[in-house]
Amino acid sequence: MQIHTKRGLKGLLKRHLVSIIIIIVAIGAAGGFLYWYNDTKNAEMDKMTLDALTANIKLDKTIADLKAKKAAELKAQQEAAAKAAADQAQTANSSTAATVDSSTCNASKTHNDPSSIDVVVNKKHCMQPVTYAPGDLVSVIDSKGSSYLLSAKAASSFKLMSDAATAAGQSFYLTSTYRSYSDQVSTYAYWVNTSGKAGADTYSARPGYSEHQTGLAFDVAATVNGTNYVLSDFNKTSQYTWLQAHAADYGFIQRYYAGYESITGYETEEWHYRYVGVTVAKDMQTKGIKTLEQYWNITGGDYY
Ligand code: DAL
Ligand code: ZN
Repeated sequence: MQIHTKRGLKGLLKRHLVSIIIIIVAIGAAGGFLYWYNDTKNAEMDKMTLDALTANIKLDKTIADLKAKKAAELKAQQEAAAKAAADQAQTANSSTAATVDSSTCNASKTHNDPSSIDVVVNKKHCMQPVTYAPGDLVSVIDSKGSSYLLSAKAASSFKLMSDAATAAGQSFYLTSTYRSYSDQVSTYAYWVNTSGKAGADTYSARPGYSEHQTGLAFDVAATVNGTNYVLSDFNKTSQYTWLQAHAADYGFIQRYYAGYESITGYETEEWHYRYVGVTVAKDMQTKGIKTLEQYWNITGGDYY
């Protein structure tokens, strides 16, 4: 029985030997293929991981570059702003220090009291002292309801004139009235930055030389059909025509006329008015005298 079984097993092996070999070879080949496939995939995965890491590093570098660029731009902007501020301060300081010399800027010795309505302030006649501030500043309200400071000597007349203009349908509003010495430092420095010193000197007074500092002068503008007519546009308005006809009745004159630049030292300013009192204003109007320099026989023109 045992012999029979052994023989049977041998016979069985002999009969299926080829099949068995094929199965073993097939299993081996499948194992080899799987090993190869796995290895290839792993290599691909490694490459993808490496690529992703490389891309991340590149992105990090780009972000770092952008941050550095932004920081450099910000620094440059801050440096430019600091330089502009320093330049402006320098301009203001040098223009003030270089030009305010009370020993030469008030040679006439007359019409030099800044608290008097007879004062003449021009490029040859600065404030005495240069930092003078009126002791009688009061608030005036213009046609827009805005509050401004003027010397009490001019304030009530301004109010009467402003109300009369509004009643006549010719309302104008204020844009600048009393300016302190330090206000004029900034104002003049601003215009020097805009037009250069020579340009600014044709229309903006150096600190200590502006009659705005007396509290007797102011600038006006008007709104017509929703458009604001300020500074050199004001002369296009009917409000300007109204002021030409009526300002003297209230003691005001247009201070700077076209054609008188060599006398006043400034270009025409149809928006700038000065209180001189009704007597002088009307007398100038009657006589056709356009400048305070000519009326009071005071030297004017350019700076010393
Ligand atoms: N614009 C006039 C001249 C002033 O600055 O006082
Ligand atoms: Zn003015």
